[in-house]
Amino acid sequence: MTEPLDLFSTPDAPNSPGPIRDAEAAAPTEAPDLDTLRERAAGCTACELYEGTTGTVFGVGPATARMMFVGEQPGDQEDRALEPFVGPAGRLFDGALVEAGIAREDAYVTNAVKHFSFRRQGNRRIHQAPKVGHVRACRPWLDGELALVRPHVLVTLGATAGKALLGSSFRITAERGEPRPWEGTTLIPTIHPSAILRADPDRGQDADEMRAGFVADLRRAAELLR
Ligand code: URA
Repeated sequence: MTEPLDLFSTPDAPNSPGPIRDAEAAAPTEAPDLDTLRERAAGCTACELYEGTTGTVFGVGPATARMMFVGEQPGDQEDRALEPFVGPAGRLFDGALVEAGIAREDAYVTNAVKHFSFRRQGNRRIHQAPKVGHVRACRPWLDGELALVRPHVLVTLGATAGKALLGSSFRITAERGEPRPWEGTTLIPTIHPSAILRADPDRGQDADEMRAGFVADLRRAAELLR
């Protein structure tokens, strides 16, 4: 499952990542099971993001999951807990899943980038969007998860995950909610729960409306399993 590496059209400077090797170069990512893959990913140094973080935030969920979610990257709380989607975006995600009738424990939840990318502001660590090199470096881990879980339905959350799997021409506003065949599964892109938390009324964004659209996309994903 290897996609073209030109994932984003935007250049990655400034803040461009340091020397990048992909994860496959750092450790074999073809593993017999998720536990083995998780152990290998724990030692990943394929990009510089591992420095200053608690560790690799690998995906969580059963290998038998029929639905898989791919987010962007762990946030501050996810890095501390070493679990994806346990912070504010995760709480919104959890509520939306309940409304859509999806049991989170039955799904596999992961991220395109598995280390927290941040800048320091005093004592705080402020989320910084991952660069194309980070997504590229991490891709073999995501491919490893996809190969082992082989979900029937794959949901990308936000632009980074969408571009990671669909390429740089992916446009979240135009394409969200539209299922399409992808590598033997059905992929449905939707918005990232953080976008709802950051909804800006001055830019015409209504958090309630965005949340309702998010739940509708998740319901659509759930229907694909029926
Ligand atoms: N945002 C993500 O994309 N992933 C997480 O795990 C948390 C927040």
